[in-house]
Amino acid sequence: MTLTRIKIKLKPASRQYHMIIGNGALNSSAEELAALAPRGVLPVITDETVAELHLPTLETIMAKAGIETRTMILPPGETSKSFAALEQVCDFLLEQGMEREDALAAFGGGVIGDLAGLASALVKRGTRYVQIPTTLLAQVDSSVGGKTAINTKTGKNMIGVFHQPKLVIADTGFLQTLDKRQMRAGYAEILKMSCLADAGLFEQLYEAGSGLLQDGHSELVSVIARSVQGKADIVIEDELERGSRALLNLGHSFAHALESEAPGKILHGEAVAAGIGAAFCLSVELGFCAEYDRDRVLDLLRQMGLPASLAEAKGARFNAKKLLHRMKSDKKNQQGQIHLILCRKIGEAFISSNVPEEQLLEFMEVNLK
Ligand code: GLY
Repeated sequence: MTLTRIKIKLKPASRQYHMIIGNGALNSSAEELAALAPRGVLPVITDETVAELHLPTLETIMAKAGIETRTMILPPGETSKSFAALEQVCDFLLEQGMEREDALAAFGGGVIGDLAGLASALVKRGTRYVQIPTTLLAQVDSSVGGKTAINTKTGKNMIGVFHQPKLVIADTGFLQTLDKRQMRAGYAEILKMSCLADAGLFEQLYEAGSGLLQDGHSELVSVIARSVQGKADIVIEDELERGSRALLNLGHSFAHALESEAPGKILHGEAVAAGIGAAFCLSVELGFCAEYDRDRVLDLLRQMGLPASLAEAKGARFNAKKLLHRMKSDKKNQQGQIHLILCRKIGEAFISSNVPEEQLLEFMEVNLK
């Protein structure tokens, strides 16, 4: 069994951690995981879907390594990224007598990773945690880089901290039970990575087409690893998103607005796909990017069955003025200016802070038709 190990080389060296990727990664990493549970107990935060499918596997692997798992199971879905759920998770961890050197395991998709990571940062002013992502989206994006968050009325991920995990185990075997819609949603984050910094990865994706997400496709694990390596390089350079890390938000200003307007109706990755399409269309309209690149991106999004524009995003009848209002509270904005990630070409993104609001509104009205 070949596993890929990617080192997230943060400074100082004591904060560095590994991401282990591949089929069977969890079983192969049992000893490393056990070492992060010095009192022989591993609190696990998961959701109902993952618990039903995969909790017995985790429990068996941990029991063999001499570790007792104690599990909290939350309802699936974005509604669990709330203050109420955060309080429940913190109470659960405190009830387990968690100490600062103990780790918890965030076992699930992006929602579980973001929520459990934030609880880990807050309990006793900071404990350790391990990400065991079970969705494609979490394996390629949210489990690596230390972003944790919950949502508020104002929007997505408004309350959170940077808190790096101690280990990330991306066992691609878990993807076998993931439905096609979730796979496509995760793919959108890989496509995003290629569009913003890795034209070679885009070519690989374009060549593989929709076949990449078919069961047992030999290239999927290497594509995941390449995408993660690209993200890791950016996180190492700019952990706290003072500069280049913001590029990882390509498509996300539009996406967060769509998600906030259609809570629970559109998956994060679907909203990101529509946002990438919109970002390329806007980049062309503003004269930054060639139509040829935009058309290839839109073509690939559609081939994959993903929305390629705001109009193609499902979940609500979206309104440009309401989307703009949401975008005004985006975390990237500075001094009241909306910051957008645009592209000069496939593989080269940049931060734009001077698109006039009226022009953005007009653009969205057209892109929604
Ligand atoms: N998902 C974007 C980031 O981790 O910065």
